[in-house]
Amino acid sequence: KKILFVTSELTDLIKTGGLADVSAALPRALGTLHDVRVLIPGYTQVLRSGHAIRVVGSLGAQAEIPACRIGRMDMPDGLIIYVLICPELYERDGNPYGDGHGNDWPDNPVRFARLCLAAAEIAAGTACIRWTPELVHAHDWPTGLTPAYMHWRGLRTPSVFTIHNLAYQGNIDMSLRRALALPHEACGVERMEFYGKLSLLKAGIAYASHVTTVSATYAQEITTEEFGCGMEGFLRMKARQGLLSGLLNGIDESWEPQSDPHLVRGFSACDWQGKAANAAYVRQAFGLEADASPLFAVVSRLVQQKGIDLTLGVAETIVANGGQLAILGQGEPHIEEEVRELARRYPGRVAAHIGFNELDARRLFAGSDFLLMPSRYEPCGLSQMYAQRYASLPIARRTGGLADSIEDGLTGFLFDQTSVDSYRHAVLRALEIHQRPDLLCGMRCRAMATGFFWRHAIAPYDHLYQQLLGVHREVAH
Ligand code: ADP
Ligand code: GLC
Repeated sequence: KKILFVTSELTDLIKTGGLADVSAALPRALGTLHDVRVLIPGYTQVLRSGHAIRVVGSLGAQAEIPACRIGRMDMPDGLIIYVLICPELYERDGNPYGDGHGNDWPDNPVRFARLCLAAAEIAAGTACIRWTPELVHAHDWPTGLTPAYMHWRGLRTPSVFTIHNLAYQGNIDMSLRRALALPHEACGVERMEFYGKLSLLKAGIAYASHVTTVSATYAQEITTEEFGCGMEGFLRMKARQGLLSGLLNGIDESWEPQSDPHLVRGFSACDWQGKAANAAYVRQAFGLEADASPLFAVVSRLVQQKGIDLTLGVAETIVANGGQLAILGQGEPHIEEEVRELARRYPGRVAAHIGFNELDARRLFAGSDFLLMPSRYEPCGLSQMYAQRYASLPIARRTGGLADSIEDGLTGFLFDQTSVDSYRHAVLRALEIHQRPDLLCGMRCRAMATGFFWRHAIAPYDHLYQQLLGVHREVAH
């Protein structure tokens, strides 16, 4: 079947978080079963990625959404990516959503409406690219209008909308309705209306044939007031109608501790020396003392969701018990500053690199003993899966995908409360295990064997697609 993925980031080209990894890996994994192609905005980083782009189609302007061209980029492994070329919207310095200094692009509504409208036009066959998807799969708020525009065009093509993070909603002013070519019905409470605004995320939920999120636990959590970000009622309704499911993410085949070329040295469950070599690299690169103490790592966006403040609260316990902490991350300026401050307080024991560095991220997973993920909520989380694969035991809060991918005391450590005390207890349990090489080795081997590869995780997606395409056929007859 022909399936179009619509996304705002993809690891090969541009990445701010896990969405990019999923957007890169899932279409490839599904590629064994379907003809999956991806649509992404032509950001500067995409156009300068070094892959050739051939213009294959064009789209006219509508309301205040400018005209654009569609380029085709063939990745070396065969993945076909359609690139939306619109310099006035996408070619600027920064990340997909803003200038990288905490300011979102003011024209984000029109930037992402352009993306969604292009997807709908491709689905309608009006983009002249000579490939028409039979199903469209859109991801997160930037692509939320995709199923909506498809609906308003009267398309019967089924659509799937995946929520990777309910807290980012793309809520915009009602006054933008005409500029984005949204019909009046968009303002209904069972449509896009959200507390007096229009929500791009809610559009995806409202108009998609089916809504998924990235773990079973998060799918349940978002129907509650605590995690629902104001949309719990609407999501409960979708769940009751059988239109909401939680499908756990996977990881791609590059997460192979023995042969990952990014690592200083490969390793396996029978040979921990390679792991030690990566730890030595981390200590040296981060300016930590060279010893064999328990090494804790953070690889994370530095935002409220990730509970970095809680890690600041357990740092003293880690240091007092002879541990070290290496932090790699970037995000909100005030959290970055607090992390720097912590590193200054414990020179040689705590170190921080503020920035985004794929190579160091992999070496941190490989070199550390424990990965800290005290997230307040976590739709799925990929870092804990990567860490387990590289024998770094995650210490995480029992929420969302963390609860679904970590077995407490077997492949990592889970704690229940969003509190330093609850977290500290888990850190102390981890430190105890570190003193017992036999137990540590047992847990590491179990964690490494867990796998979580996409090749096992695609089955429920395939099942869902088949189901939607089947329903679609019945409707068409
Ligand atoms: P989220 O998508 O909420 O950020 P995930 O755990 O799903 O959380 O995915 C985060 C991804 O981003 C992982 O691949 C992680 O390794 C990567 N990552 C996060 N921060 C950094 C960083 N500063 N440098 C390199 N990679 C990072
Ligand atoms: C989001 C979530 C994260 C998830 C990722 C990929 O960024 O915060 O938990 O793993 O999307 O689905």
